Amino acid sequence: MPAKIKVTYSTLASPDPLLDELFDEAVAKAKANMGQTFPMYIDGQERIATEQFEKVSPVDTDLVMGYFQKGAEQDAEDAIAAARAAFEGWRKTPWQERVAILRKAADLISDRLFDMAAIMSIEVGKNRLEALGDVEETADLIRYYCDQMEEHDGFSKILKAESPHHHNRSVLKPYGVWAVISPFNFPCALAGGPSGGAMVAGNTVVFKPATDTPYTGWLLTTCYRDAGVPDGVFNFVTGSGRTVGQTIIDSPEVDGITFTGSYDIGMHIIRTFAQSQLPRPVIAEMGGKNPTIISNKADLDKAALGVMRSAFGLQGQKCSACSRVYVHRDVKDEFQQKLLDLTKKINVGDPTQKENWMGPVINKSTFEDYQKFTAQLAESGNVLYGGKVLDLNGYFVQPTIVDDLPESHPLWKHEMFLPIVTIADFEDLDEAMAKANDVEYGLTAGFFSEDEDEIEWFLDNIEAGVLYVNRETGATTGAWPGYQAFGGWKGSGSTGKAGGSLYYVQQYMHEQSQTVVD
Ligand code: SIN
Repeated sequence: MPAKIKVTYSTLASPDPLLDELFDEAVAKAKANMGQTFPMYIDGQERIATEQFEKVSPVDTDLVMGYFQKGAEQDAEDAIAAARAAFEGWRKTPWQERVAILRKAADLISDRLFDMAAIMSIEVGKNRLEALGDVEETADLIRYYCDQMEEHDGFSKILKAESPHHHNRSVLKPYGVWAVISPFNFPCALAGGPSGGAMVAGNTVVFKPATDTPYTGWLLTTCYRDAGVPDGVFNFVTGSGRTVGQTIIDSPEVDGITFTGSYDIGMHIIRTFAQSQLPRPVIAEMGGKNPTIISNKADLDKAALGVMRSAFGLQGQKCSACSRVYVHRDVKDEFQQKLLDLTKKINVGDPTQKENWMGPVINKSTFEDYQKFTAQLAESGNVLYGGKVLDLNGYFVQPTIVDDLPESHPLWKHEMFLPIVTIADFEDLDEAMAKANDVEYGLTAGFFSEDEDEIEWFLDNIEAGVLYVNRETGATTGAWPGYQAFGGWKGSGSTGKAGGSLYYVQQYMHEQSQTVVD
């Protein structure tokens, strides 16, 4: 990528024609090389399992992107054993050397930006800016955790001493074998961020990507391999059922885990870990039901653009997606009209093509969920726009806006993870806040108002980990490492510490207080 062009989730349009040229070339190259077989990577060796599974693109269900390994219990156990065997050497590797290797991995990710983003676009259905952003974010997350190690001098700090004979220190040390189970929606950033953080802190990693995104997982693995991460320090295992993931979750040899995905699975992991003989850390990021409140003092153009981008970007399949809007009664009609005008202009189609901002949803089961939920919404509410699937050879659906859904309807609280937004009006801001907070989740939230007191009120009262005020590039979406820490409260996150933040990498280490008296 030319040095001055940087794509983040806030980038509204391709910033340079060269970016489109390079992306188009990478897509052509990727499409010419489909259908290969990809291994797992355990203890520095490629491994083929007895069975494989096909990865089919959601953009075109006739396109088999590749054949991936259906790992067995033994493969997961071997990966964990390899990580255990490599731990001693890796933890004793000076942290400066670990930082150097991980910085090299981040640079390789940046060098391979277009090739990785092209595959991801076909694999997930992300548009080019979202896919480029995901790859860039991965490199930035890894660099950010390296920066944190450097800024804190490897997290070794001299403490106060009782006398000249006392030498007191606090040291953060790695736990051991760390599992990373990543989701399909940010298949690079939510795999590379946690694994990079875990490794720079001195842990060894067993990584299992989502079944829908093994290809991006493999590309990330090759960046670590080529950067010189030693054998056994990073292991990649794939599977198409529950076997590999469950073996990892059940293994007492795993010392900690980072999981990003649904509330149900996240809570299952937290409960499973809680039942083990010894306490073990779980970093779980478990989704959202993110509200945006729009005051009658809002700039409605900003609000409509911000909501449209957050509700429908990546087909509503971001944990941070805006799925609920509470708008002041006085401005509801005007806001709705603006949102409708913007939504009607969205092109849905092959996301590798520049003109399409929305691609398909991830798979058949999600496509079926969309049809089920939109039928329920049409029955109880007023579908202002969308609600239909498209007659294309992939899992394409319309962005959907729903009004007049009764307050008691369960879909006000259920995370649909689809491009569906429901809208309600309010008269009093406190009433809107009560509704906004009345869900189990607390990941992101947006507010639009030009009034400073109202802004303070919002920041004081909303129960969520990531807040945005008057953000037209994304009412509730688009955090970037070092700029916005990304993590949830309540049912959205287990540790209260966010990714890409000042407090993240420390979670991969436990503290040791050392007192030496001479
Ligand atoms: C996500 O992890 O779901 C999205 C990140 C963001 O939009 O801030």
